Amino acid sequence: MQIIRQTRAAPPSAVGSAAEQPLSQWKKMSPVSVSTNRDIPGPQEPEEKTYHPSNGLFTDAHVPDFDAYLALYKKSTEEPEEFWADVAQEFYWKKPPSGPMLQYNFDVNKGNIYIKFMEGAKTNICYNVLDRNVHERNLGEKVAYYWEGNSPDHHQNITYNQLLRSVCRCANALKLLGVKKGDRVAIYLPMIPELVYTMLACARIGAVHSIVFAGFSSESLCERIMDAQCNILVTADGVYRGDKLINLKKIASEALERCKERYVPVCCSLLSEEPLFTSSSHPKCKILLYPALKLMTILLFLLCVCVCVCVCVRALQTPWDESCDIWWDDLMDGVSDECEPEWMDSEDPLFILYTSGSTGKPKGVLHTVTGYMLYTSLTFKYVFDYHHDDVYWCTADIGWITGHSYITYGPLANGATSVLFEGVPVYPHVARTHTHTHTHTHTHTHSCLRVLGTVGEPINPEAWLWYYEVVGQQRCLVIDTFWQTETGGHVLTPLPAATPLKPGSATCPFFGVQPAVLNEHGEELEGEAEGYLVFRKPWPGIMRGVYGNQERFESTYFRKFPGFYVTGDGCRRDKDGYYWITGRIDDMLNVSGHLLSTAEVEAALTEHPSVAEAAVVSRPHAVKGECLYCFVTLKDHKEFNRTLMEELKRKGQREKIGPIATPDFIQNAPGLPKTRSGKIMRRVLRQIARNEKDLGDLSTLADPKVVEVLFSQRCEAAA
Ligand code: WTA
Repeated sequence: MQIIRQTRAAPPSAVGSAAEQPLSQWKKMSPVSVSTNRDIPGPQEPEEKTYHPSNGLFTDAHVPDFDAYLALYKKSTEEPEEFWADVAQEFYWKKPPSGPMLQYNFDVNKGNIYIKFMEGAKTNICYNVLDRNVHERNLGEKVAYYWEGNSPDHHQNITYNQLLRSVCRCANALKLLGVKKGDRVAIYLPMIPELVYTMLACARIGAVHSIVFAGFSSESLCERIMDAQCNILVTADGVYRGDKLINLKKIASEALERCKERYVPVCCSLLSEEPLFTSSSHPKCKILLYPALKLMTILLFLLCVCVCVCVCVRALQTPWDESCDIWWDDLMDGVSDECEPEWMDSEDPLFILYTSGSTGKPKGVLHTVTGYMLYTSLTFKYVFDYHHDDVYWCTADIGWITGHSYITYGPLANGATSVLFEGVPVYPHVARTHTHTHTHTHTHTHSCLRVLGTVGEPINPEAWLWYYEVVGQQRCLVIDTFWQTETGGHVLTPLPAATPLKPGSATCPFFGVQPAVLNEHGEELEGEAEGYLVFRKPWPGIMRGVYGNQERFESTYFRKFPGFYVTGDGCRRDKDGYYWITGRIDDMLNVSGHLLSTAEVEAALTEHPSVAEAAVVSRPHAVKGECLYCFVTLKDHKEFNRTLMEELKRKGQREKIGPIATPDFIQNAPGLPKTRSGKIMRRVLRQIARNEKDLGDLSTLADPKVVEVLFSQRCEAAA
């Protein structure tokens, strides 16, 4: 996925002038101590080029150079109270905090893990991202979103004034349905404005949104509804993704059927009770709060969704249950467009977002109001170097954390103008992305682009250079941001004007973030090192828990190395203090006792001119313990043959990393199994490599057919 910051006023074109400066100029200022002890085998440092902004591109940058970054970083870690108090001044507070800015325990041996930020303060995030812009900053007429439909004929401009009114209407409608502070609302919507309205409406009235990406199956939706005990589901009749029609309401109804099936006896008995509340103005919406539910708190979740609100987007024939379904337009009809926000405590929950754990069962990552608000706002401003007349586009879906943080909350908190895109980049033609850029910047070249972002998977130097040279025309900076659903916002990231870039590295920590590298025994490694990426202190945007499961929260992130938040990713820190993500620790390859990361082996394979993409997993080996099994996707019209295989084995591995990394098997892979957010599912590849047919839960796969193809084309020798 990519994030693009573009500006209406195109700066002087400086194509091809990316200056390359020696690292030595700023090395001494590196934020981590530098030494040369390396005790884990890894690739030798290649001759490195660094990339800097072109002249004139960032004359007004918020953080103009590396010195300025270091000064701010130092303040954020040495005087965090002052640092965050300064940031907080930008926002509206109904009540100021009563205690310290940050309180926490990261050590399981000292008691429960907790993080509290600005305790005692009262605010509302929806008020801060909308009303504050309209009433205090005079941005009411500014465009908040250029919405682009799947079809290029569908578009809509939404100003901050309009957004505020639509959100208030939706908030009032939810209240009418009985939703109140603390209730969970499931949202299963495509990338249409109603998705933003609903999530902000929840935030306005203190309800907790749980957005489920509108590509998940009915089973996944059901599982998430039940886990969060949601009592309202907001969905749409259908959506076109490219030329494929998806009947969302049908999937949603199936999900609700599944929820009911699991608890039939209880549902029936409860439904016979008289409801406490029915909406007289909306006769379709009958089932709401039941006294029995109040008494039987233990059964509270058993009824799950009682109302399903459906946005009519495509006028599709949909399954319809008169007892609980209601059309969005009927619900909004005549509802007021003013709504007093619910003033929330800092640590009140804001949303739950499910992320799949390695065991397959998704975890409900919980974020709270104030810390998330400050952190997404600050990272957005600095990482994209956002300025008032920029137009910004994040291509992610709001169903993922990237969309929550950098389509909704971060940009709106800054009063930004964003593109909200419903479709896919290649529909109706491959140049769709370019068309957007031109439409919303009123220019006819890419010279208006300034910052290109990337997140989600290690971007290898090859891909980084393509992005930089082809998309960015050697002028824009490529910002490789490392973060997680759990971290709420960017944690390792360059700042455009300040950080010299190295292709493949997520570079340095953001303000307030204190990374460390540990070895298997939990010992902290200094200077150049490779090992587990952990964080020693919380920053405001870090997750506050796994919804309803403190035990899982602690065991997943804190038990392995008491005193640290464990990301689950491996990393390498180079001599300049730069961080390079090497992939998930669970995916590490252990060959003849040497630990290799997936990222480094895959980067070596993709250096071959015929290879478009590669993924590597391990497979048991009688002598070496484990050996490498590689899947390679070739570029168009390239042929998979013996010569290519030999070249990949010899050049890519023996010469690049060392003989240890020579693959035993290389399989031609027309496609790789990926999650819907674009991550390679190496767990599935491991099973293919081992010829194990029991693949477990595949519901997060974007295209399950790929798996069959890969099974049918396994390397024979690996039978
Ligand atoms: C991976 C996405 C390398 C990593 C915001 C992490 C990355 C997981 C990068 C989180 C990056 C994310 N370089 N790997 N720049 N960014 N990852 O929760 O393994 O969908 O733990 O959040 O993606 O994925 P999630």
